[in-house]
Amino acid sequence: EKGGYDYFMLKEIAEQPKAVADTLLGRIDAAGSLTLDEVRIPDSVLREVDKVVIVACGTAYHAGLIAKYAIEHWTRIPCETELASEFRYRDPILDQRTLVVAISQSGETMDTLMALRHAREQGAKVLAICNTNGSTIPRESDAVLYTHAGPEVAVASTKAFLTQLVACYLVALYLGQVRGTKWGDEVRGVVRELSVIGAQVEEVLATMEPVRELARSLADKNTVLFLGRHVGYPVALEGALKLKELAYMHAEGFAAGELKHGPIALIEKDVPVVVVVPSPRGRSVLHDKIVSNIQEIRARGARTIVIAERGDEAVRPYADHLVEVPATPVLLQPLVATVPLQVFACELATARGNEVDQPRNLAKSVTVE
Ligand code: F6R
Repeated sequence: EKGGYDYFMLKEIAEQPKAVADTLLGRIDAAGSLTLDEVRIPDSVLREVDKVVIVACGTAYHAGLIAKYAIEHWTRIPCETELASEFRYRDPILDQRTLVVAISQSGETMDTLMALRHAREQGAKVLAICNTNGSTIPRESDAVLYTHAGPEVAVASTKAFLTQLVACYLVALYLGQVRGTKWGDEVRGVVRELSVIGAQVEEVLATMEPVRELARSLADKNTVLFLGRHVGYPVALEGALKLKELAYMHAEGFAAGELKHGPIALIEKDVPVVVVVPSPRGRSVLHDKIVSNIQEIRARGARTIVIAERGDEAVRPYADHLVEVPATPVLLQPLVATVPLQVFACELATARGNEVDQPRNLAKSVTVE
C-alpha cells in the first residue's frame, strides 16, 4: 500500500505532481478561464465581498498565509489569515459581505470547525477548502472546493499542503475574474503557468539527492533556522514546522526583514539557516533585500542553505548549499520551494531514527480543541 516506498510520507511527496494536476482538473476551460461551478456561492455574492478571512491550523494555516498575498494582490480585497484557535475568541468583525475560507485537509479539525460555525452565526459566507469528501467542515460550509489530493496517511502534511495552495490560488484568481482586476493579463498568465506546476514539482523531485545528503549531514544539530520574505516567509514557517514534527529538532521560521529586530542574535558559527529567496523577476527589491540578509548571516558564520530560482547567480557566492527550483511567477513559488523542505525534514527524521509517518505525540486529525 506504500507503493514501494518506505514511508507514506515519501509516497505522498512523490504524488505531488499528480495531486496538483488533479486539483486543477476540470477547473480551467479551453479558453483559460476558471470554471468553479461547484462553488455554489453565486457570483453576485462574490462581487459584493469586501473582506476575506482565512481560518486554519498548522500546515493549512501556512497555505492560508500564502493565499493572503495572492488574494490581496490579484483582487484588492483586504484579506486576513488567522489561526482558527485564536479567531473565535477575539470577537472578530464579520458580516454578510465577509467571505470566510476554512482550509482543512481532514475536514474534521475542531478549532477550524468552531471558527466556521462562529463565522456563519455572524452571517458570513463560508467556503471550505478540503481534501476529505463529505467530512464535517465542508458539510457545514456554504460551499466547498475539494483539493482531490487523494488520501493523506502520513501525519505530516505534504501533498495536502501543495493542493491547498493550488485551491487558494484558484479562489484568488476566480475572485479576480468575477470582479475584474487591474491585473487581468497577469491573472491569465498565472492560470497558464499553474498548468505547468505539476511538471515543475516533478523536476524538483528529480534533483533531491543533494538535499537528502545535506539533511543526513545535519542529523546531530540542535537547531535549524528558516528565513523568507513575502510568500517565502510562510514557506519558511512550513519548513520549520515539518522539521519540528518529524525530526524533533528546534526549528524556527522568521520573516527575513525581522532578523535585525531580534533573531540575528541566534546566528552563530555553523548554525544551519535555510533561506527561501523570492524569484528575481518582478519583485527585484525583495530579492536584493534577501540577498543582503544572506550576506549578513553568513558573515556571522551561519551555514547557509539557499533555495532560489534556477539561474539566480546573485545568491550563489553566499550559499554554502544551493538548492535550485524552477522559475515560476513570484506568487506561485511556494509550490516548488516547499518541496525541498519536505524532503529535508523527512530525511532528517529518518537519519535520527524517528518514526516518519507517525511522529510522537501527534494525531492526523485533531478533533479536540
Ligand atoms: C502538519 C500537519 C498539521 C495539520 C493541522 C490541520 O504537517 O499536518 O499541522 O496541518 O493539524 O489539519 P487539517 O488540515 O486536517 O485541518
